[in-house]
Amino acid sequence: MPKIKKVIKEVIKTVRTQSELGVQTGPWKAAGHKIGLVPTMGALHAGHMALVHQAKKVCDKVCVTLFVNPTQFGPGEDFNSYPRDEEKDRAMLQDAGADILYAPSVGEMYPDGTTASLSAGELGSVLEGAFRPGHFDGVATVVERLFSHTNPHAAFFGEKDYQQLQVIKQMTLRQKTPVEIIGVPTVRGTDGLALSSRNEYLSESERGIAPVLYQTISGVADGFAGGQPSAELIAAAVEKLGLAGFDPVDYVAVVDAKNLKPLELFSPDTPARVLAAAKLGRARLIDNIAVTAP
Ligand code: PAF
Repeated sequence: MPKIKKVIKEVIKTVRTQSELGVQTGPWKAAGHKIGLVPTMGALHAGHMALVHQAKKVCDKVCVTLFVNPTQFGPGEDFNSYPRDEEKDRAMLQDAGADILYAPSVGEMYPDGTTASLSAGELGSVLEGAFRPGHFDGVATVVERLFSHTNPHAAFFGEKDYQQLQVIKQMTLRQKTPVEIIGVPTVRGTDGLALSSRNEYLSESERGIAPVLYQTISGVADGFAGGQPSAELIAAAVEKLGLAGFDPVDYVAVVDAKNLKPLELFSPDTPARVLAAAKLGRARLIDNIAVTAP
């Protein structure tokens, strides 16, 4: 009689407090393992899985955090309606091979009340920061707390949120936190739309229009690399997005990739980035792309 092999699928461990987390990660640290952190707000998709895969490549253990951070949402924003499905997220993380899920409560992260205690500085006040005042102070605050709870060697963030990535790099330097910040390229659908948890807000017809955002910023990046002034390209891009149905177009910007200051003309010595944010129905979409020299 053939033997039936029982395959027992390991269930990813979920912890909800800093001390429970320490019980799990303490022995990893004692054993000299390199720990990678992937902070998320859940509603996971292939973009998040790319972060986990990258973390698994360069670290021995991968800790994913799931926390919908109240201090990075402004009044009237989607904190209450932000998509939440912990079971589905857990299944995806298990398949991707993450080692632990840290899903703390608001009280665990903010024992003294839900206010941002760190400033994101000048970098946090432009572009997204100008339209979402205080947003990056909330991001800097929660990321710094997640670092202190998990003590990772490296942390992984998507380039999709390019300004966030720069704010976190700068905050980490300012705080002298010994964590390596690794940016992971944006994952896109076959039509170019950047994957985002907020894409869930798009209706079917809006989903058909949404890739115009990527097409538009790609056109701006090409034109800029080809020598056209940013002002002309931006005006044309805003018009194109408006005609496609985006309303309002919050910004299209061509900036220095490091300090996010506006650029007028392309220079091969200054890495540049095109960033944009615009609303399509209920969804506020953001995207960005590097300018590559011709
Ligand atoms: O990018 C996100 O999902 C969030 O801003 C982050 C980095 C997890 C902080 O809440």
